[in-house]
Amino acid sequence: MSKGFTLWFTGLSGAGKSTLANALEIELRQRGSRVEILDGDVVRTNLSKGLGFSKEDRDTNIRRIGFVCHLLSRNGVAAISAAISPYRDVRNEVRGMIGEFVEVYVKCSVEACAKRDVKGLYAKALAGELPGFTGVSDPYEEPHNPEVVVETELESIEESLGKILTYLEKSGYIHRVEAKSTTR
Ligand code: ADX
Repeated sequence: MSKGFTLWFTGLSGAGKSTLANALEIELRQRGSRVEILDGDVVRTNLSKGLGFSKEDRDTNIRRIGFVCHLLSRNGVAAISAAISPYRDVRNEVRGMIGEFVEVYVKCSVEACAKRDVKGLYAKALAGELPGFTGVSDPYEEPHNPEVVVETELESIEESLGKILTYLEKSGYIHRVEAKSTTR
């Protein structure tokens, strides 16, 4: 059984967390890993249904996602979290619980996220119609020592994905693709 771990994306809404999570899932499955994605938008429709965006509710959301990642990764699954997770302390709390934890900072300026504005939320937030929106009227605390930083304003998805895969290979969480064909 391959070694389980949690790959924890953190970054602003629209920075590219879900896109990278989906691309990473495909790569990891090709390498024989079992994968589960916990996406903030999805988790908020079930496990965290009813939670809002106060600090307390966001921390509760992150602890729940972290707990599920902990259960999955200790059973050999590659658990991928894709939630903003804006607060450093609770991210570090989850890191401590899980142990096999790879934090990936999906770095992208508020300006660039607002320009993409895939969900139209930045326009609302900037117009003052959505109070407490991360990066606009609510804090985002950058990680101090993330294992990987990807800069989605400057890199293609393939480049960012490559950085993550290189780190996972180097750390022994996944095998190099070439190694797969030689397994008996
Ligand atoms: S977290 O802060 O608790 O980690 P999470 O990733 O689950 O957030 O959810 C963020 C998503 O909720 C955003 O991508 C966006 O679609 C939506 N959203 C709605 N209101 C807010 C808000 N005030 N701040 C940030 N995201 C919001």
